[in-house]
Amino acid sequence: MTYWLGIDVGTGGTRALLVDEHGTARYAFTAPHEDMCMQRPLWAEQRPENWWEAAQQAIRGVLAEARAPGTDIGGIGLSGQMHGLVLLDEANAVIRPALIWCDQRSQAQVDAINHTVGKEAVLASIANPMLTGFTLPKLLWVRDYEPAQYARVRKMLLPKDYIRFQLTGECATDVSDASGTGLFDVVERRWSYELARKLGVDCAILPAAFESSAITATVSRAAAAATGLAPGTPVVGGGGDQAASAVGNGIVDPGIVSCTLGTSGVVFAHMQAPAYDPLGRVHTFCHAVAGAWHVMGVTQGAGLSFEWFRNRLAPGAAYDDLTAEAATAEAGSRGLFWLPYLMGERTPHLDACARGGWIGLTASHSRADLIRSLLEGVSYSQMDCLEIIEQMGVPVESVRVSGGGARSPFWRQLLADVFGKPITVLATQEGSAYGAALLALVGTGVYTSVPEVCRAVIRVVDTILPQPGTTNIYAEAHRTYQSLYPALRGFYHGW
Ligand code: XUL
Repeated sequence: MTYWLGIDVGTGGTRALLVDEHGTARYAFTAPHEDMCMQRPLWAEQRPENWWEAAQQAIRGVLAEARAPGTDIGGIGLSGQMHGLVLLDEANAVIRPALIWCDQRSQAQVDAINHTVGKEAVLASIANPMLTGFTLPKLLWVRDYEPAQYARVRKMLLPKDYIRFQLTGECATDVSDASGTGLFDVVERRWSYELARKLGVDCAILPAAFESSAITATVSRAAAAATGLAPGTPVVGGGGDQAASAVGNGIVDPGIVSCTLGTSGVVFAHMQAPAYDPLGRVHTFCHAVAGAWHVMGVTQGAGLSFEWFRNRLAPGAAYDDLTAEAATAEAGSRGLFWLPYLMGERTPHLDACARGGWIGLTASHSRADLIRSLLEGVSYSQMDCLEIIEQMGVPVESVRVSGGGARSPFWRQLLADVFGKPITVLATQEGSAYGAALLALVGTGVYTSVPEVCRAVIRVVDTILPQPGTTNIYAEAHRTYQSLYPALRGFYHGW
């Protein structure tokens, strides 16, 4: 039996998923990562070598689950956490731990880029403003603070592309993930060599960029020995986790939008032509669909807020028990608001200095109010993303939910009520690894295009409608929530 393998290099772990030629998810195996290392506030690092250990374990694990030899794998698709900075030296060794997507240390480098190049020119080069989360300012941070390490840099890779390098020996990326580096011309779907030159970045360190379903390389003998895969197995470009997840959710046509609640929370919409928010509050990136783009808004601390609450304030509690407790509180949490800015915020504030917290706490609030307000705060932040996308003229008929947070029926209803839109749930909730496997099905010729495979395999199994009374409560509460960040901005920035 032939399977297609999707590998997602997440933040918490690497997941390997096998699908058959009908796009049915058959077997999966997840290997956990070491915790991210947060030496200082807003710093976040992980060891790429640990991702590769996890990938080997996940690939071996899923092949064992399926009792399949490596020769049963028809193709491989990769997806992964975006924006991370992996640096290789002349001997292809990792130079330092990767600065990952939520690392926010590079404000001074963003300011320097804007000063050197000009904000307008940055926007013209990459269709987005430069942000602390993007890879380029992280690279310049290494240049500024670790010049000896920087001098050794021969290649810059994104997280999933380090796994591709280990699997194939080739340095390559795909257009959707490259879009999040801050060094990619999103409109032209190629590296912005002009921007690199203006900033003195050596273009030779950049990997070749492919469309997401194009074959980039094949599995090497060494990787085959390490993983149980067969040498010569094709590896397609794949996608950044959000674009890959969008393929897995069928967000490949206008009108349907996704909301993915993982560590971060992302509202994602397909676009036939690149359009951008003039304030740059949402990202305009290449889609994993050839010749298409997407727009997405990002809440930095979505699932992260809930995880933080569970780990720090309710250790050992099951998430289901916590959401059941939240359901006992009133909509609006009796005036209590959670600001989910635990790692600064992207949409809509683009502010690495923003901080999380509860506002409106009184002695009468219960733990149920705390939990409910936390889930509501994350949902308001996702609503901020949706609002901007709609203001850009992108149509939003319904929202498909996925990710860990969307497993909770309570949170799904909450999203429907906050968004005031129907929420749909898909039969397969496998996220990015699933999308990566679908890209491999297209790249190896089983389907002719990404929209074709999505139409053939993706099925809606549930629709949750907004409850009008609750939607009205949330519409008002959302406006109050929106007034809090401007009131606190001075405090975040030391007045
Ligand atoms: C997207 C983003 C996150 C990370 C981690 O811009 O930063 O989705 O990719 O999942």
